[in-house]
Amino acid sequence: MNNEFANDVIKGLTSKNKHLPSKYFYDNAGSLIFQEIMEMPEYYLTASEFEILSSQAKQIIEAINFNQPFNIVELGAGDGLKTFNLLEYLVENNIDFYYVPIDISQGAMDSLIKSLKKKLPKLSIHPQVGDYFEILSKKNVKTTIPSLLLFLGSNIGNYNEQEAINLLQLFNNSMKNGDGLLLGVDIKKNPKKIHEAYYDKHGITKRFNINLLIRINKEFDANFNIENFDFYCYYNPISGNVKSYIISLKDQKVQLKKLDIVVDFKANELIWTELSKKYSLDEINELATKCNFKIIDHFLDQKNYFTDTLLIK
Ligand code: AVI
Repeated sequence: MNNEFANDVIKGLTSKNKHLPSKYFYDNAGSLIFQEIMEMPEYYLTASEFEILSSQAKQIIEAINFNQPFNIVELGAGDGLKTFNLLEYLVENNIDFYYVPIDISQGAMDSLIKSLKKKLPKLSIHPQVGDYFEILSKKNVKTTIPSLLLFLGSNIGNYNEQEAINLLQLFNNSMKNGDGLLLGVDIKKNPKKIHEAYYDKHGITKRFNINLLIRINKEFDANFNIENFDFYCYYNPISGNVKSYIISLKDQKVQLKKLDIVVDFKANELIWTELSKKYSLDEINELATKCNFKIIDHFLDQKNYFTDTLLIK
């Protein structure tokens, strides 16, 4: 049994305001649903970042200005799709670099390596499987050549303000002076656009959330009846927070046998599942400065929906 998951489920479902952390969305089924989300036209984030990394690879690499071989370290590489064009640009221009993808999933890493070896045979790959917190916390993580860290896909948005500061400071501590961090951030925009991306009319994001209950049923021998739960989310344009919830549709009890608990739900009671925070450019600058980074530039897509912001230690 996954102990950290078990503890978080017990803590989250027995507290006054119920909560399940979104990092547990990504079992095999959840990762596939997330792929579906990324393919929805409403989920503009993926296409926007893809556009930035395809059309501005040259500008990004020139702005970082490493005049020697360097590492590109991708934190949470996943399927590596969004990074492909950047890697292709570097390979085609004979720029000397090592690609260091880090991902928790061995399966995702194997398929990423296979596809990159086929499409970019000249690419030098040094994969690391594991949790990037743990990998970056190791003392020997620093190499002698410069590194550009990639933390893309608005993953920073899934952390609250304090957690985001802690994470960026952890990145900063693992970096040498002159190393870069390319941070993918979803920008505050017309609230309707954000609402449509998360409260999607196809119900894919609802399935993504409800899958967490299915996962808990499987892993902890629980009896969530998913017909009795629904999904709700809203965007607060002032704070920039999208908050996602699972709603209990009636008074009910759910037993989680392997965790030895029975959880009471009232009708309309909520389980908070996810924060997806949006930032203004000023807020990004403020966050980066607090974490001892210098802001080099914000690389935006044509619609100004998303930024890959280049920071230097
Ligand atoms: C992975 N993460 C950045 C996504 C996001 O936008 O917060 C996860 C997601 N949740 C709902 N849709 C997509």
